[in-house]
Amino acid sequence: MSKSADTKSNTFTMTNNATGESFDFPVLSGTCGPDVVDIRKFYAETGHFTFDPSFTATGSCKSKLTFIDGDKGILMHRGYTIEELAEKSNFLEVAHLLLEGELPNKKQYEEFDHNITYHTMVHEQINYFFRGFRRDAHPMAIMCGITGALSAFYHDSLDIWDERQREISAHRLIAKIPTLAAMTMKYTLGQPFMYPRNDLSYAENFLYMCFGLPAEPYKVNPILADAMDKILILHADHEQNASTSTVRLAGSSQANPFACISSGIASLWGPSHGGANQAVLEMLDQIGDKKNIPEFIARAKDKDDPFRLMGFGHRVYKNTDPRAGVLKKACDEVLEDLGVQDPRLELAMELERIALEDPYFVDRKLFPNVDFYSGIILKAMGFPVEMFTVLFAVARTVGWVSQWKEMIEEPTLKIGRPRQLYIGEDHRKYVPMNKRK
Ligand code: CMC
Repeated sequence: MSKSADTKSNTFTMTNNATGESFDFPVLSGTCGPDVVDIRKFYAETGHFTFDPSFTATGSCKSKLTFIDGDKGILMHRGYTIEELAEKSNFLEVAHLLLEGELPNKKQYEEFDHNITYHTMVHEQINYFFRGFRRDAHPMAIMCGITGALSAFYHDSLDIWDERQREISAHRLIAKIPTLAAMTMKYTLGQPFMYPRNDLSYAENFLYMCFGLPAEPYKVNPILADAMDKILILHADHEQNASTSTVRLAGSSQANPFACISSGIASLWGPSHGGANQAVLEMLDQIGDKKNIPEFIARAKDKDDPFRLMGFGHRVYKNTDPRAGVLKKACDEVLEDLGVQDPRLELAMELERIALEDPYFVDRKLFPNVDFYSGIILKAMGFPVEMFTVLFAVARTVGWVSQWKEMIEEPTLKIGRPRQLYIGEDHRKYVPMNKRK
């Protein structure tokens, strides 16, 4: 049932069993999802901190952007389901929805499209900046550096308290990230950079900059452009995940948005987060053949073996990842259009079938997540495996920027500062070196 947002609906009483003291804390209700206990005064009133190391039960902010119901497999942006957006919308519309709060009307769309399109070129000096990287650098290493470096190029939009400058920075980031991602790919391949083309859509232009060559015309395959657009929509935002929380925490210190997005890219890189799409392909290569699947399933279940089935499980989704279903369909279309007979796909399908029947995975609600299919589709499109997480970063930039903007515009903005349970030595006297054991 829908509730009005941010209402104080109740109080939550906690009792300290050691002293018998009771404390009342306000309970806040959102529009959807569980109520939250407001513990902002917890330390002041009880003298205790709360302990939640991986933030599994902590709401770190109020947000109007994205709602996830992990048990029911629901993902909504500003109230629209991801399935409906993926089917009926396009990436720039979704970007407008996340950033501005509403789907754009025709005039707003044309204006937004124009603003993004005419910010896609990067400062020419950035071309030379790339040359400082080794050609064999991981593309995510280049992306962390080059995105952070944007703050050295666009001084005129760094005042985060100026609404217009925030808007320009947001447009610049959404517009330039695909250009930087494509330049990163070209640089690692040793091919010339392709300048953006303003006559193409966001997804088409990205494919053109990645796969075009100056020596010959490049015709964008509409099925691939459509699949790319869907991939971008499906990865655009995902509530307060690790990289988004990183962006918000960095931004809470009033750091500039380019630096904040760079911190998000760094956090996304890990294999438990965005790096999983690369890890899925590497895992399929490691498994090699269907006959080896039981061995890898057994390893995934073995607590003494660090191996996990990449592309399975999710911190929030405990039923199904709604993004995975949409991507599986797009994956089938791309593979059929390209006539790709990738044995890895067959392997992936068999792995999925076996894992979904195995009580270990069923009991723990471990389902294929979005990364299980995105790796396969991106490989078929011709992206090098190391680029997969970069593509995730391109899409997620919209979410990061929107979340950053929402946070800066919150009147009660304070620097993020978690506390800790200290378990080190208590105070002790300094021992001179000649007296140490
Ligand atoms: N393979 C084997 N066992 C697993 C897996 C897996 N992929 N994922 C979780 N488990 C087991 C885990 O060992 C634990 O078992 P037990 O209860 O017996 O100790 C149980 O399931 C719960 O695991 P958890 O580590 O407490 O779950 P989590 O919510 O902390 O972890 C996760 C979520 C995504 C990090 C984890 O499922 C994982 O490592 N998956 C593989 C990496 C992956 O695909 N990541 C992409 C996530 S989707 C894209 C994104 O949003 O970034």
